[in-house]
Amino acid sequence: MQVKTDTAPTALTGIKPSGEPHVGNYLGTIRPALRLAETYHTIYFIADYHALTTVHEGAELREYTDVIAATWLAFGLDPERTLFYRQSDVPQIPELAWILSCFTPKGLLDRAHAYKDALARQQEISAGLYSYPVLMAADILAFRAQWVPVGRDQKQHVEICRDLAMNFNRAYGEILTVPEALIQAEVETIPGTDGRKMSKSYGNVLPLFGEAQALRKLIMRIPTDSTPVEAPKDPETALPFQLYRHFATPAERDELAARLRQGGAGWAAVKQALAEVLERELAEPRRRYQDWMSGERKRLHAALDAGGEKARTLANKLLTNVRRAVGVR
Ligand code: TRP
Repeated sequence: MQVKTDTAPTALTGIKPSGEPHVGNYLGTIRPALRLAETYHTIYFIADYHALTTVHEGAELREYTDVIAATWLAFGLDPERTLFYRQSDVPQIPELAWILSCFTPKGLLDRAHAYKDALARQQEISAGLYSYPVLMAADILAFRAQWVPVGRDQKQHVEICRDLAMNFNRAYGEILTVPEALIQAEVETIPGTDGRKMSKSYGNVLPLFGEAQALRKLIMRIPTDSTPVEAPKDPETALPFQLYRHFATPAERDELAARLRQGGAGWAAVKQALAEVLERELAEPRRRYQDWMSGERKRLHAALDAGGEKARTLANKLLTNVRRAVGVR
């Protein structure tokens, strides 16, 4: 493990607690973010106010918040090294969001993809959904984050955040830090069990904390063609292999790819190999997750509370400058 220095840059990202985590979340978000925490100062938080745009059941939102917190802790997030909190524990964030909204041209929000998608699908649009990018900008700017690790789908939101920060700074001087999106390229699209992007809305996910047996079943049902065992196969288009390569060591990955190309490896063997590497990586976190969610729920809340305390102190520093600049108390 590399050691991060005091001058290491700060990376901040939010995780929306809107469902049970799946393998795509792990490969696309959790694993890269935890690796980043080895060399960056990191601030990771649970974006419960953002989830409120879609989750309208108090008990559900509370439970999802714990689920997400327990997930990250189970995979080794260290709250001593990463500032880890619930967004709603930091009132400075919605306060800053209001101030920023006064520097947000309406046209900018009209162009936001999430809003345009909802509009196109004729969904009901709340003011909260419409101003989602402003709240997200406040999340980032309140902590002076330089880097925002996100998937491609969130890049536009970071661009909007940059615009708002620059608008504000133009009026008051260099108070806000203009951040940049950090897109981790190699893990962009994780295929689900049907080959489309793994996503809850497609019903093609491998749940992160499913029991080994249940996971194995889902894996065995991944569609493959009828190429016979002895025929050569292209690993690039082989769905089970595309999942396998994220969990295998480079040597394991190259070996199985070679066996596929030569012929002689059947789909059942590839799926078997996938189930094994998955289990190797997920068994221990699954146990820890269950601990956090049952016996250690109090400790989980205590960890989040402590993070919230630190986050308020930090955000308040920036807010003090912002309040003074704009002329409110
Ligand atoms: N909008 C992000 C998503 O849907 C979650 C999020 C909220 C976020 N606030 C953020 C991401 C701040 C990065 C920075 O995934």
